[in-house]
Amino acid sequence: MRRLTTRAVATVGAAALLTLGATACSSERDSSSSTDKSSASGFAKDSLVGVALPAKTSENWVLAGNLFTKGLKDAGFKADVQYAGASTTVADQQAQISSMVTKGAKVIVIGATDASQLATQVQQAKDAGAVVIAYDRLITNTKNVDYYIAYDNFKVGQLQGQALIDGMKAKNPKGPWNIELFSGSPDDNNSKVFFNGAMDVLKPYIDKKQVVVGSGQTDIKQTATQGWKAENAQSRMDSLLNSTYSGKKKLDGVLSPNDTLARAILTSVKGAGKAIPVVTGQDSEVESVKSIMKGEQYSTINKDTRNLVKETIGMVTALQKGAKPTVNDTKSYNNGVKVVPAYLLAPVIVTKANAAEAYANDPNLAPLTK
Ligand code: BGC
Repeated sequence: MRRLTTRAVATVGAAALLTLGATACSSERDSSSSTDKSSASGFAKDSLVGVALPAKTSENWVLAGNLFTKGLKDAGFKADVQYAGASTTVADQQAQISSMVTKGAKVIVIGATDASQLATQVQQAKDAGAVVIAYDRLITNTKNVDYYIAYDNFKVGQLQGQALIDGMKAKNPKGPWNIELFSGSPDDNNSKVFFNGAMDVLKPYIDKKQVVVGSGQTDIKQTATQGWKAENAQSRMDSLLNSTYSGKKKLDGVLSPNDTLARAILTSVKGAGKAIPVVTGQDSEVESVKSIMKGEQYSTINKDTRNLVKETIGMVTALQKGAKPTVNDTKSYNNGVKVVPAYLLAPVIVTKANAAEAYANDPNLAPLTK
């Protein structure tokens, strides 16, 4: 995994640096470095484009579906946008992708429900001549994924780890701080990338005992949240509070990989009558932005879905014209079989201090920061 050395960009509130980071990212765009071997010979402008999204486990997926439906139509394509159902997610998504292939989709954009369970369906897509773009989540163990587009997941984790430290430092400058770690669903390739990014920042503090993981649960297998489900995070937090933080023992911080889980963790902590710890998040969900403005959840990450969808439709349009989509990373995302050429966008850390600025051009979130 690529190590990002520019630790400075992880500083909470360093908005100017973050802007520079984003600029650097787009100027790094280098289509010539693409290792893509797919035959991008172009196709008719009104072709079908399939978009297979996972269950609506967070707001970003709901937004993405709406934006794809409208954006693909506006760009002249026919769109088939599907979500995996809430319970039979893997089988649903497999059937949806097969059906898109049968209907003749020229490009299939996939936000995988389970990274490792789509090999058969993407092989079908390839055999039918369709291009496969992994959206937000990588598809693993197959050569038949042509491109990956996402916010830089490792950097998301680093920003979360740094926000956790910064938030705890602001309350108690020297520590030591007691924390607990949560990670996402094991079937989502992003979960380990977020966790590794966060641990890249936290591990040196853990090694010198300035940060103490009270439960001792530092292995990703112990921290995982199956299905990214709020109830699973809440019940694990309940158990941790019972086993490790009964009595006066203080819990200073919780690494949460996203907003849905952050709110579940906060519900658990409040239910136990404990003081609110520093809790990280991701996705800029409405309820979490409100919680941040109230001084409860400490941070979130802005991964503006509008930009991710826009760039993805840009890739589809390039393919339609017979051109190679732009990528800016050809080394980070080895899916077990090949390194998938990726286009990564820059995530932004958001706390109460920079929320107004971070969401200034987001009509849904900006009013919440006033
Ligand atoms: C996405 C996150 C999201 C999570 C749960 C991840 O793959 O990158 O933005 O919070 O899935 O839906």
